[in-house]
Amino acid sequence: MKKFLAAMMAAMLCMGLLTACGSAAEETAHTAETTEAEAETANEAEPADAAEETAEPEAAEEAAQPEAETAASEALADGVLSVGTNAEFPPFEYVDDSGEPDGFDIALIKAIGEKLGVEVQVENMEFNALVASIGGKIDVAIAGMTVTDERKEMVDFSDSYYTAVQYVILPKDSEIAAAADLEGKAIGVQLGTTGDFIAEEIAGAEVAQYNKALDAVNDLVNGRLDCVIVDKNPALVFQSRFQDQVTAVDGAQFDFEPEEYAIAIPKGDTALADQINAALKEMMDDGTFDALVKEYIEGSDE
Ligand code: ARG
Repeated sequence: MKKFLAAMMAAMLCMGLLTACGSAAEETAHTAETTEAEAETANEAEPADAAEETAEPEAAEEAAQPEAETAASEALADGVLSVGTNAEFPPFEYVDDSGEPDGFDIALIKAIGEKLGVEVQVENMEFNALVASIGGKIDVAIAGMTVTDERKEMVDFSDSYYTAVQYVILPKDSEIAAAADLEGKAIGVQLGTTGDFIAEEIAGAEVAQYNKALDAVNDLVNGRLDCVIVDKNPALVFQSRFQDQVTAVDGAQFDFEPEEYAIAIPKGDTALADQINAALKEMMDDGTFDALVKEYIEGSDE
């Protein structure tokens, strides 16, 4: 029944979009490729359904493909997904011993690239430059990037893959314990991050912006700052690196709201968003995602 309806709808869609059908001819080769790749991955996820699927009338499905699928993403046309990150954000991204970007986000986007059948090239750049580079120097960005309304004006986001919150890193002997205590304080942040945006809203705060959160933490340890505001997991990593000097406190204690991380995508590239979201979902369903959480995030603060 479901299938019948789907075929009907596809046929109706096709009739409605006959002009699009014709003019999309040059896109068709492309689309067919993508559709095949997607069909394959779908089959893997649902082997029981897959057999049925191929037995069903193919003509209607085939005819419907150019409409059912949006045009293939231009970002993938060269077979390369160029990914911007800022590898100063452990455990999501950092530079490993061999000098290459590694971490949860890097492993995640490489796995997504594999599913999409493209080569992933990682560009390590300044966090503050990422959003403006999407659709130009880079195709997408993965950088523990929080979905915000301001960023949404410039880029689209994939489905979210992680929930975080800003933490407050304090010297061991600090008396800062609640939102009001942050007023008028010297606060270190990474430039252009949500921690930066929060700090700038704090009355009388003297906000020091760094290109790397680690540099802020070093200045905290050296007594130049009262606190550092940075995302939960990096804060916990830094806490473990400076165990005797600092404490990382959950931002909920300061009324900071939860944040969602997602992959930033060129505005309007729904084909790419769909493909990335499908890959993400597959990984969440089949346990690959959890395995990456275990490998990279759990235990990173020990
Ligand atoms: N989640 C914060 C934001 O989106 C900080 C992200 C910083 N990421 C990084 N790779 N340095 O602003």
